[in-house]
Amino acid sequence: MSRIHDALKRAEQERATSMGTHVEPAFDQPEVRNEVQRENMPSLQSSGATVMPTMASGLNYESLLARCPQTEWSPDPRTMLFFQEDDSRVGAEEFRTLRSRLYQIREKMPLKRLMVTSALPKEGKSFVAANLAQVLVRQHGRRALVIDADLRNPGMHRHLGAAQSPGLAEYLLGECDEFAALQRGPMENLFFMPAGRVAGSAPELLSNGRLKLFLQRVEPLFDWIILDTSPVIPVSDATLVASSCDGILIVVRSNVTPSDLARRAREEFPDKLLLGVVLNGAPSGKLAQSKYYYGEAVNSQA
Ligand SMILES: Nc1ncnc2c1ncn2[C@@H]1O[C@H](COP(=O)(O)OP(=O)(O)O)[C@@H](O)[C@H]1O
Ligand SMILES: [Mg+2]
Repeated sequence: MSRIHDALKRAEQERATSMGTHVEPAFDQPEVRNEVQRENMPSLQSSGATVMPTMASGLNYESLLARCPQTEWSPDPRTMLFFQEDDSRVGAEEFRTLRSRLYQIREKMPLKRLMVTSALPKEGKSFVAANLAQVLVRQHGRRALVIDADLRNPGMHRHLGAAQSPGLAEYLLGECDEFAALQRGPMENLFFMPAGRVAGSAPELLSNGRLKLFLQRVEPLFDWIILDTSPVIPVSDATLVASSCDGILIVVRSNVTPSDLARRAREEFPDKLLLGVVLNGAPSGKLAQSKYYYGEAVNSQA
């Protein structure tokens, strides 16, 4: 896993060369940039085949559309990069690069259920997971489901401006079926399962077998399933979710994540699941735009 170590080392070096040696609060990060560290990644390719409707799991795409009507979302325009016409938002290009690298990895291994996690809260897990799902469905015919599996401190619904419940918690409690827990917003082919109400027994819920069952049932309907999780260091929930996933992206917030904690987070997972590190908030070279963009994001979330 030298690639991961290289990426963590790089994040550490950026910290070392930044102003001051203490860990900066996340909101002080001036710039936006995301990248995944992975070797030998040539140009954009999108070889994953579009999933055809199937009855194999008892669900098909038509029943999903019929039973999951479009709901009102108000995506935060300052952090959700792909809901507007403007394709040149700061950070958008980095998400396209991330997408192309994921397709390249997918040529070498089965990859559909993708978990996004990080060492600590507020490092950008939900930001990365939500924007990644959007950029994936920007490609014609691709369908994605993004799941907020952070049952303790859910945040994805705020980024998307969607309802928090019913969602994963209600499904895991057996209170609703998969259709009732899913939402379809204004972006074609993008589906969302919010976390649901905060139930207070996240590890028990995530390990009761229903998450695996859910993923098996809906998997044939989607090209990608992105799972946003709790941070790794304080709680074990992400490790439970990882056992149902094909690959993991670890978000490291530039100038924020202490490198020893990022390393500890990475050690929680088997090497074969680790796809790479997304460096969030690194300098992009577009200082004026980035600062403006970030300033707006801070105001909206504070
Ligand atoms: N690259 C970024 N640019 C602008 N704002 C960001 C960026 N990454 C994270 N944020 C903001 O930082 C806060 C924490 O991000 P979030 O994705 O919710 O963290 P996490 O899910 O890791 O707890 C949110 O207010 C989010 O909008
Ligand atoms: Mg979050």
